Amino acid sequence: MKIRIDKMLSNSGFGSRKQIKTDARKGFIEVNGAIEKDSSRIIDTNADTVKYNGEIVKYTPFIYLMMNKPSGVVSATEDNYDKTVIDLLQDEEKFYKPFPVGRLDKDSEGLLLITNDGKLAHDLLSPRKHVDKTYYVEVAEEVTDADIKAFEDGVVLKEDNYKTLSAKLEIIESGYPSTCLVTIKEGKFHQVKRMFEALNNEVTYLKRISMGPLKLDESLKTGQYRHLTEDEVELLKKTT
Ligand code: URA
Repeated sequence: MKIRIDKMLSNSGFGSRKQIKTDARKGFIEVNGAIEKDSSRIIDTNADTVKYNGEIVKYTPFIYLMMNKPSGVVSATEDNYDKTVIDLLQDEEKFYKPFPVGRLDKDSEGLLLITNDGKLAHDLLSPRKHVDKTYYVEVAEEVTDADIKAFEDGVVLKEDNYKTLSAKLEIIESGYPSTCLVTIKEGKFHQVKRMFEALNNEVTYLKRISMGPLKLDESLKTGQYRHLTEDEVELLKKTT
């Protein structure tokens, strides 16, 4: 694979491309035994040996995909009964063994990050990081200002009595049904559905529209996906 040195090293976790540029100028990088000060040089990962600070860099490319998950497929890598989001990928992406970051329910749609970057996935899902997830939600009953307050205070879920962290509820239209936006900082199982259930309402449609700084590309039809841009990857890494 042909790739710029800075991209190869930053994808491998050696820092930002800016940092790598500085490191190259300082003589930290060698290509086939010779110091390389130009971090924009393109190398061939199959033919060239790159060393960073004296150590050979073994390159495993990371891939980062954004999918507009359709309803009816599960957010898993394998499933005995249902089609998975990984089944929707081409072989050239499956090759890198990506997995979905977190879960959207089988009947939920919207933004799903799929990657093989375990560290990024772990950081984005870490309860301590409180990465915002925003959902467009349709519910059967009216939503009220009291619901906004309840979300803000944290909702006690049925069954396990777990009290959610403060969440944001923005009403788009209140009626029968109602539409709204919900932003939560955690990812408990069926969380948004259960939050409305606790307030005696019922989610009838749920679509994730953002995760941290990453926004669903609305040009993606359900079931479609695309690679993240470098800027999107950088932004995501910065949030964690
Ligand atoms: N909350 C839910 O209830 N379902 C999802 O798929 C995501 C968040």
